Amino acid sequence: MSRVAYVNGRYVPLDRPSVHVEDRGYQFADGVYEVIAIEAGAPVDEALHLDRLDYSLAELAIAWPMSRAALKVVMREVVRRNRITARGIVYLQVTRGVAPRNHAFPADVPPSLVLTARPLPAIDAAVVRAGVRVVTVPDLRWKRADIKSVSLLPNVLGKEAAVRAGAYEAWMVDETGRVTEGTASNAWIVTAAGDLVTRQADHAILNGITRRMVHAIAAEHGIRPVERPFTLEEARTAAEAFLTSTTSLVRPVVRIDDAVINDGRIGPLTERLLTFYLEHVRSAPPAPRPARTTDVGAAT
Ligand SMILES: Cc1ncc(COP(=O)(O)O)c(C=O)c1O
Repeated sequence: MSRVAYVNGRYVPLDRPSVHVEDRGYQFADGVYEVIAIEAGAPVDEALHLDRLDYSLAELAIAWPMSRAALKVVMREVVRRNRITARGIVYLQVTRGVAPRNHAFPADVPPSLVLTARPLPAIDAAVVRAGVRVVTVPDLRWKRADIKSVSLLPNVLGKEAAVRAGAYEAWMVDETGRVTEGTASNAWIVTAAGDLVTRQADHAILNGITRRMVHAIAAEHGIRPVERPFTLEEARTAAEAFLTSTTSLVRPVVRIDDAVINDGRIGPLTERLLTFYLEHVRSAPPAPRPARTTDVGAAT
């Protein structure tokens, strides 16, 4: 089945080029994005993702390409047109728009909006529980990692280093020896004293939606996460470690570089949090009936 993208007001086959070569996303990485999980055909934590999109856009003074309500309709239509009835992901990107190349903001240019979606296999809890290896790389990013910008070159280089080392993810370490986050996930440890620790959501990390949900779910169950920076050495000697993201869920980390964590197995607290988080994802509301999209105020 051919995949369908939404590009600036039109639903087009994914392989039809339809983005302008002078789009500022293409030339300056001047844009932001979201990745939203689909479960049982419906978006997971949609409101939180749209709130974070709002934050990223506002920080960069990029206008919303359409109303929030219209964007929700388009998202559902992209899911429907790609026949995602079970698990999948939506990629949503807003850039500052098309203008002759010049660094300063162009005047009166509408933002560009692109959405794609693809199905994913159902979650295999046994695979998730088995855990993953991470390697560590220097954090080379700019000082506003809290903005979900499409400018991801250090993340790309870090992930490539992980893949080349046969690992799943790279944890980035700042110049003071503290772990910031993964290239596409947030980093967590459980200390020997039993504290659940993740870095505070400052400008040095992206405040992951999964991070926020795991934080909230943990608190609901009487587990109070400590938000503070932690060093690579603490991570290497931690009782447990895991990472969180929309696509990775709660993923046990069983090795950090050459340091084996919890004898290479998922730890008890990670196991509990994974179970709670899977319950949350699987309780996503059922997909609404397919929406009519003819009245959507699409950006041009
Ligand atoms: C740098 C970075 N940190 C954290 C995350 C996790 O965010 P979320 O849980 O919203 O997927 C991502 C997701 O892509 C990311 O790119």
